[in-house]
Amino acid sequence: MVHVYILPLCLAISSTFSYIMDIFAFIFVLGIVSLVISSANANGNASTFNVLNYGAIGDGKKEDSPAFLEAWNAACSTVKGTPKVIVPEKRTFLLNPVVFSGPCKAKKIDFMISRKIVAPSSPNAWKGRDASQWLAFSGVSGLNVYGSGTIDGQGKGWWDQSCRYHPELQGCTKLAPTALKFLSGNDISLSNADFTNSPQTHSKIGSGDDCISIGDYISNLYITNIECGPGHGVSIGSLGLGGNFVQVENIHVSNLSLNGTTNGARIKTYQVGKGYVRNVTFEDNKFDSVDNPIIIDQNYCGVRGTCKELPTGVHISDVTYKGLYGTSSTEVAINLNCSRWVECTGISLQSIKLTSAKDGKQATANCVNAHGKETRVLPGPCIGN
Ligand SMILES: *[C@@H]1O[C@H](CO)[C@@H](O)[C@H](O)[C@H]1NC(C)=O
Ligand SMILES: *[C@@H]1O[C@H](CO)[C@@H](O)[C@H](O)[C@H]1NC(C)=O
Ligand SMILES: *[C@@H]1O[C@H](CO)[C@@H](O)[C@H](O)[C@H]1NC(C)=O
Ligand SMILES: *[C@@H]1O[C@H](CO)[C@@H](O)[C@H](O)[C@H]1NC(C)=O
Ligand SMILES: *[C@@H]1O[C@H](CO)[C@@H](O)[C@H](O)[C@H]1NC(C)=O
Repeated sequence: MVHVYILPLCLAISSTFSYIMDIFAFIFVLGIVSLVISSANANGNASTFNVLNYGAIGDGKKEDSPAFLEAWNAACSTVKGTPKVIVPEKRTFLLNPVVFSGPCKAKKIDFMISRKIVAPSSPNAWKGRDASQWLAFSGVSGLNVYGSGTIDGQGKGWWDQSCRYHPELQGCTKLAPTALKFLSGNDISLSNADFTNSPQTHSKIGSGDDCISIGDYISNLYITNIECGPGHGVSIGSLGLGGNFVQVENIHVSNLSLNGTTNGARIKTYQVGKGYVRNVTFEDNKFDSVDNPIIIDQNYCGVRGTCKELPTGVHISDVTYKGLYGTSSTEVAINLNCSRWVECTGISLQSIKLTSAKDGKQATANCVNAHGKETRVLPGPCIGN
């Protein structure tokens, strides 16, 4: 099973099968110039499925999900070639929660988003529906979602009633929908997607959750060119919930720009977890006032102080941090807090420069049970050589 979750502004991933993603999600970047895409339509080309030909209006007011589903079903039942669903330019499509289901007949299927898809502005649209998701692809393999369009999660209504930020509110909600999920698929790619939200949420509260979170069974994942923040940042984990056997490997995160996030390059695992995280690289990433720019927490507990120390853990090895720079909003800029039972090995810190975001303050590094090597690390030394 592959699960890729795109949170209202962000992205979360968890899978069991290996696949490669090349993500160019410009989170919070508005005013993206959309490419000029030839107005292909279904007429005269059996392999393209323009939602307009299935009754979509695209005025941002009428609900277009039935038309999207029809276009999807037509594409999905096409046997020949690479059927392509087209969400054309110059329109805004309002979609209620919708699941595009597979398996599809063709080996590959394209979904091109050229303009804008918006979520309902009110959480009421989710009444009687799964509040954990908005757009989902389920059981689809060989899927390629791309285009220069925008997916607008309209998260404000959710944050306004979130228990996390408004615990006093009667009927507050703990769950908010993930903007885009890939469930039970394989060989999925997502590129050039622009995930955004209403302008009102450029505040800390509006940030939602992780920009990218990587789950228990992800491998061969490339993430690059992403701007994230404010929000929780990038996270491998939490892994190993309930004693899961974690298999996470070959993850490469580069050219990420994090601004005002809680975490930067984070790996966090539950003590009860088993298995491994290995061959992970964080490279050329920039941090602006990030709370925990570099962090491994192998003692993650959910609720602090409620977990007993256990002699188990997920083994974290061969993790490279290279060319990471910027500022930390807390004192501890580097925090490799590994378990004394299952120590971190093969850690490499290279060319790191993290300073305090606060004038005159010193940033520090804390490395416990972390082994490996380091060169040119500020603040440092941390793991020693
Ligand atoms: C059908 O559309 C695809 C993708 O837009 C294009 O590559 C192909 O040339 C088109 N075929 C015809 C017969 O128009
Ligand atoms: C890094 O990502 C930014 C967007 O966040 C992009 O503008 C820039 O071209 C990327 N740099 C490289 C070297 O890919
Ligand atoms: C480590 O992961 C990278 C992808 O990030 C991959 O290209 C490389 O082959 C992996 N190395 C090993 C030894 O598996
Ligand atoms: C970080 O975000 C803040 C507020 O959201 C903004 O004022 C600042 O310019 C951003 N910094 C960078 C380097 O993008
Ligand atoms: C490291 O983890 C332990 C156990 O959860 C915790 O008590 C400690 O505060 C952590 N240290 C840092 C510097 O985060």
